[in-house]
Amino acid sequence: MKQKIGFLGLGIMGGAMAANILRAGYPLMVYNRTPAKSEPLAQLGAGVASDPRHLAQTTEVIVAMVTGPEALDQLLWGPQGAAGAFNEKKVFINMSSVSPRFTRELAARLAPTGVTFIDAPVSGTKKPAEEGALVILAGGQEEAVTGLEPLFLTMGKKVIYCGPVGQGSMMKMFINLLLGLMMEGLAECLNFGRLGGLDLEAMLDTVFSGPLNCGLYQMKAPLLKEKNYPVAFPLKHMTKDFKFVRAGPRGPYAAAPLPHRLGPGLGGRGHQRHCQGIGASEREMIFGGGGKGRWVLTSLPRYP
Ligand SMILES: NC(=O)c1ccc[n+]([C@@H]2O[C@H](COP(=O)([O-])OP(=O)(O)OC[C@H]3O[C@@H](n4cnc5c(N)ncnc54)[C@H](OP(=O)(O)O)[C@@H]3O)[C@@H](O)[C@H]2O)c1
Repeated sequence: MKQKIGFLGLGIMGGAMAANILRAGYPLMVYNRTPAKSEPLAQLGAGVASDPRHLAQTTEVIVAMVTGPEALDQLLWGPQGAAGAFNEKKVFINMSSVSPRFTRELAARLAPTGVTFIDAPVSGTKKPAEEGALVILAGGQEEAVTGLEPLFLTMGKKVIYCGPVGQGSMMKMFINLLLGLMMEGLAECLNFGRLGGLDLEAMLDTVFSGPLNCGLYQMKAPLLKEKNYPVAFPLKHMTKDFKFVRAGPRGPYAAAPLPHRLGPGLGGRGHQRHCQGIGASEREMIFGGGGKGRWVLTSLPRYP
């Protein structure tokens, strides 16, 4: 008998993930702050909860996929918050990207309810979410994570066990830091080559003909050639994750320059108005954006 699943948060990611749980035959209840986003799920056969507590009362495994800490606080401890219905028979899985520290604090706050808490953020964006091909980065009790694998594999192609609760979030910060560095590195180098008179196709050919060839750059190449820069991962989310990276582990070599650049400068409100995504920031960094791109690359404070 499949567990009853409750899903909180039906945004870009959550909507697709909840639909895959339903398609795999799990009984599903959903809740979203903006009610209209529940309708497509209701049409697929999901029940719609009137509030987060109603959702937690009527299900066994409660999954959250929302923006970040504020949204989680609201859904868990706000009016009719889900945490009020948690007990030792229930499981709560946070799949939103938040900091390891927030996750550990959340675990401590949830402990008195007896609920089993797993942090399981994901690697992958909208398309893998739609295709059930995310990589699930799970932290928490290993037996609990193993027991939840059938559920995770409705949303993802693979589950990576990362350690105790909080370590799923740590792995998510690790992989997003690498993603940001690789994208910024490509953008900065292409801009450097362009300013030196190199042809874009020849630069990409050079990258792809050696060990720097990789899936991420291959995926971006057609868009670069077409000068088409759709937002794939909103810069506001990358900025949020880099805020967590900046507050992360300390020590020699611990921090990389990009999260600092994406701090008050690039991630600041003024810049975000012009720069809605990694896609858009690539354009600005690579093709100048009326001088703005050069400003981004040269005028931001250097990492000390
Ligand atoms: N997009 C990606 O490519 C991607 C990839 C990997 C991980 N992630 C992570 O996945 C999470 C969700 O991302 P997304 O792209 O699905 O975001 P999104 O489309 O912006 O959806 C955000 C969700 O959070 C809810 N929410 C926000 N603030 C809330 C509040 N105060 N109270 C209650 N609900 C609130 C929204 O409800 P409303 O509909 O009412 O606004 C919506 O359901 C984020 O942590 C993100 O960093 C995203």
